[in-house]
Amino acid sequence: MEPLPVTPMPQDAAKAVQEKQLLLSRLLARLAHEIRNPLSSLDIHVQLLEEDVAHTPPEVRARSAARFRIIHTEIERLNNLVKQFLSLAGRTAVNRQPVQVAAVTDHVCALLRPEAAAHGIEIALELPEALPPIVADPDQLTQALVNLVLNAVQAVGREGRVLVAARVEVAANQMHIAVTDTGKGIDLENVEALFEPFYTTKEDGSGLGLWIVRQIAVAHGGMIRAENAATRGAVFTLTLPLRVNEENHG
Ligand SMILES: Nc1ncnc2c1ncn2[C@@H]1O[C@H](COP(=O)(O)OP(=O)(O)OP(=O)(O)O)[C@@H](O)[C@H]1O
Ligand SMILES: [Mg+2]
Repeated sequence: MEPLPVTPMPQDAAKAVQEKQLLLSRLLARLAHEIRNPLSSLDIHVQLLEEDVAHTPPEVRARSAARFRIIHTEIERLNNLVKQFLSLAGRTAVNRQPVQVAAVTDHVCALLRPEAAAHGIEIALELPEALPPIVADPDQLTQALVNLVLNAVQAVGREGRVLVAARVEVAANQMHIAVTDTGKGIDLENVEALFEPFYTTKEDGSGLGLWIVRQIAVAHGGMIRAENAATRGAVFTLTLPLRVNEENHG
C-alpha cells in the first residue's frame, strides 16, 4: 500500500521553527560563554608579554607596539561580540527603564546618516509633537532600530530615502516605529523567511539582523511586521507596548 503523504500542519511548522530558534539561541549563548574564558586568558598573557618586551632593544619595542595595539583592539572586538551574543541569545534579559523614543530614534538616524549620505540616501525622522516614554531596554531598542535602518539603507543602495516614523495608538496601548525605504521592496509570499536566522540575500550578510529584531520585539512583548510601501519599497514596523503590566514583567 502506498504510504500516505505526510504534510506538516502549519502549526507544526511554526513550532518547528520556534524550536530551531530556541536551540540556536542556546547554542549561541553557550558558544559565547565558552569563548569568554580563553579570551580573558589571552588578554592577561598579552599584557605579560608586553611587559617582557619592555626590556628588549628599542627597535624591537617599536615594532611590537603596533602589533600589540592591533591584538588589544581585536581582543576587545571579540569581547564586545561575545557580550552582544550573551545579552541577545541568553535569557534575553531585558533591562527595562523609561525610554524617550525621540532620543533613541534621533541617535540611530545620526549614527547612520554619514554612511547613507555617502550613497546619496537621505534618512528622515518624523515624530509627533509629544511622544510618551515607553518602558524598554534602550540598548536593545537602539540595536533593533540600527538593524532596520541599516537594512533600509542597503535596500535603497543608491539615491533614495529612508523614513523613520513613530506613532502612538493609545487605545491599543501601542507605539509603532516604522522604517520605510524607497528600495525594491520585499516578496510578500516569503516574508516569514526574512526573519529566520541566517536567511540573507547579501554577499556579506549574516542573516541575523531581522532575527535579532524579532527576538528583541518579542522579549518586549511586542512584534515586528514587514510589508510593502504604497508606492515603492518596504516598510518594517516595530510595535511595542506603551506601558508594561508590572505583574507580568519584573
Ligand atoms: N528594507 C528591506 N527591503 C528589502 N529587503 C529586505 C529589507 N530588509 C531586509 N531585507 C531582506 O531580508 C534579508 C534578511 O535581512 P537581515 O537583516 O536579517 O540579514 P542581512 O541584512 O542579509 O544580513 P545582516 O543583517 O547580518 O547584515 C536580507 O538579506 C534582505 O534580502
Ligand atoms: Mg541586516
